[in-house]
Amino acid sequence: MCGIVGAVSGRNVLGVLLQGLQRLEYRGYDSCGVAVWQDGTLRTSRSTARVADLARQIDASGLHALTGIAHTRWATHGAPSTANAHPHVSPDTARPRIALVHNGIIENHDSLRAELQAAGYRFDSQTDTEVIAHLIDRLYDGDLFDAVEQAVRRLRGAYALAVLCRDEPHRIVGARSGSPLVVGLSDGECFLASDAMALAGVTDRIAYLRDGDIVDIGLAGWHVHDRDGQRRERPVQTVKILAGSTDLGPYRHFMQKEIFEQPQALADTLEGVEGIVPELFGDGAWRTFDQIDRLLILGCGTSYYAGLVGKYWIELLARIPVTVEIASEYRYRPSIPDPRTLVVTISQSGETADTLAALLHARNLGQPHTLTICNVESSAMVRESTLAYITRAGIEIGVASTKAFTTQLAALFLLALTLAQARGTLDDDALAAHLQAMRHLPRAIQGALALEPQLIAWAEQFAARDHALFLGRGLHLPIAQEGALKLKEISYIHAEAYPAGELKHGPLALVTDAMPVVTVAPTDELLAKLESNMQEVRARGGRLFVLTDADSRFDSADGVQVIRLPEHHGLLSPIVFTVPLQLLAYHAAIVRGTDIDKPRNLAKSVTVE
Ligand code: M6R
Repeated sequence: MCGIVGAVSGRNVLGVLLQGLQRLEYRGYDSCGVAVWQDGTLRTSRSTARVADLARQIDASGLHALTGIAHTRWATHGAPSTANAHPHVSPDTARPRIALVHNGIIENHDSLRAELQAAGYRFDSQTDTEVIAHLIDRLYDGDLFDAVEQAVRRLRGAYALAVLCRDEPHRIVGARSGSPLVVGLSDGECFLASDAMALAGVTDRIAYLRDGDIVDIGLAGWHVHDRDGQRRERPVQTVKILAGSTDLGPYRHFMQKEIFEQPQALADTLEGVEGIVPELFGDGAWRTFDQIDRLLILGCGTSYYAGLVGKYWIELLARIPVTVEIASEYRYRPSIPDPRTLVVTISQSGETADTLAALLHARNLGQPHTLTICNVESSAMVRESTLAYITRAGIEIGVASTKAFTTQLAALFLLALTLAQARGTLDDDALAAHLQAMRHLPRAIQGALALEPQLIAWAEQFAARDHALFLGRGLHLPIAQEGALKLKEISYIHAEAYPAGELKHGPLALVTDAMPVVTVAPTDELLAKLESNMQEVRARGGRLFVLTDADSRFDSADGVQVIRLPEHHGLLSPIVFTVPLQLLAYHAAIVRGTDIDKPRNLAKSVTVE
């Protein structure tokens, strides 16, 4: 998704700007650009190619500047094209006065465009962003900060902005509402970025702006006004920025690398967990756990499926009722708030717009207890929550979430154990046994990864199909759902997941020998039921692909192919069964030749609604 970097310094800032864009690249984008103040003019360079091409273009043009802004764009309004790429300038003349980059969506752009066109402004793009550039130019009367402050009062929607003015060198004005923006500080230099990660290696001294803030950065320092125009202090923190390795090593894709990093990611996530104590989730967590009597879990996509598994574990082990909701639905629903609810948000990035908005919504409704399970310590959701559990998956670059999901599951299992301890539903021996089983996970995942050749054989059969069904029951239904999401997301094969018991209530009509049916079938108390559902598929000529346990009674037969997973602790099997489904999706995508790490139309971090 869109990314912003801005810099004011005594040295050439193009390196910082381009490096910042490169750090944000993995989130997905379709064009990029920079604008700099150089010798009294604003010069821009934009490209629909990669940041590396933009860098070559800039090199060739000899740009050199002490002040500049840069952007990666993920198209919302207007196709991916150079004309729609940011920065946008105003007025549209050979010597523009304003240059600006924007993340977010302006909802009233149509009415503003009409007004600005009537005032004589010419539009060069289909973007909502160009409207803001012209609006600021129109309001400009010698002070950029003042013009931006007036302009944002007219905007409806979400924005993070960085704005340059031809007549005010060494100054950038930023503003945010609904989209993140941070200030980075270093000796004699000031930066803006949509994510602290863009400034990794440049500075770790970060101030997080609040919604409604307008910030002025320059060589002499920085200051902030809030939404009401009052001067405010925003604390500067030294943050640990999740940079990680962005090298592919021996792998073909980041997704493949991240699938194979799971044993280490789980080991890292469990490192330091010496016992089950509330403090795993933050200081004072015991007090919170004492004051709640239900949970509401919120997330999107893969993180939502993690929440569904979490519900099962928490209700089973801690006997606390749990509701799981898709964040984008919850935030707009007239729900009934309960101050004794622990609101748990789950997010790899911690910046997903819908989940963040749902968290703030839950709090505004009067639910003070919040916990975020997240892979990025410096993210907005972690900052906005009273409690947090940071998974240690390391940076995840592939758009398809893999190691982030399995480490989220590990964190949720720990939460279930901690709540069980707080409620007294598990004794010390049982807690120790579950924790011991968790420590075995990296080995079990290694065993699941060793099944890759068998999954390649399955993937070759799937790649020729347009549709697939995934079945699961109980604890493994969310894993079937996650398997279907992975397959459709990266191979573009249409895939649906159902609770196996629902088959005869509709989806069975789709089953023919052209419909592969993946069944997540561990040896558990629902196995007999699942077996009858599988018979229903076979009786219609459907081809079954069964994932089951080492000791299972299933055998391959005509129309039934079976893969057995390595031994593992029964309750943790969702984590182990996830791995073959990731490999199936990955290899089906390889056969189909899709852009695995950057599937079409998708972005890594979904920071717009
Ligand atoms: O960063 P988040 O976990 O909040 O992201 C939520 C979803 O956008 C994400 O899980 C998405 O569904 C993945 N691309 C699926 O692989």
